[in-house]
Amino acid sequence: MSKEIALSQGTKKEKYEGLLPQLISLVEGESDATANLANISAALKETFSFFWVGFYLVKGDELVLGPFQGTIACTRIKKGKGVCGKAWEEKKIILVEDVSVFPGHIACSSISKSEIVVPLIQNGIVIGVLDVDSEELANFDATDSQHLEELCSWLVTIL
Ligand code: SME
Repeated sequence: MSKEIALSQGTKKEKYEGLLPQLISLVEGESDATANLANISAALKETFSFFWVGFYLVKGDELVLGPFQGTIACTRIKKGKGVCGKAWEEKKIILVEDVSVFPGHIACSSISKSEIVVPLIQNGIVIGVLDVDSEELANFDATDSQHLEELCSWLVTIL
């Protein structure tokens, strides 16, 4: 069944607060993880006009590209490598104001200027990451961290 998201207006905080209940309703009744991660990527990109939004999922000793919205991206990232691999290794959110000065940053596109990566932690184990990229420098802050962490904490309960 197709559903629509009513794009939230206002501040970034208000947009997140409007979006999260809609995401929950969007995936309600759908048990397929790929479908749900794809729609969540699309909803985040559409709401905030981010450059790239997507998931990497842990498969063995690597993160493998999962559902995403945006330009073609690298497909495999080793633990500890890049922003995504660091968020996996350190089990914490990594917020990068300027990707050009992040040691080991993996540039999938030169257009991306700042980035936030949120680990998906299920029963203490990282099962993947949510990666969001922006065309603007320093586009992410504590509001993004807080709400994307909330989103990911809920997400792992339905994966
Ligand atoms: N920049 C990421 C790689 C993934 S792309 O941005 C989509 C990193 O350094 O891990």
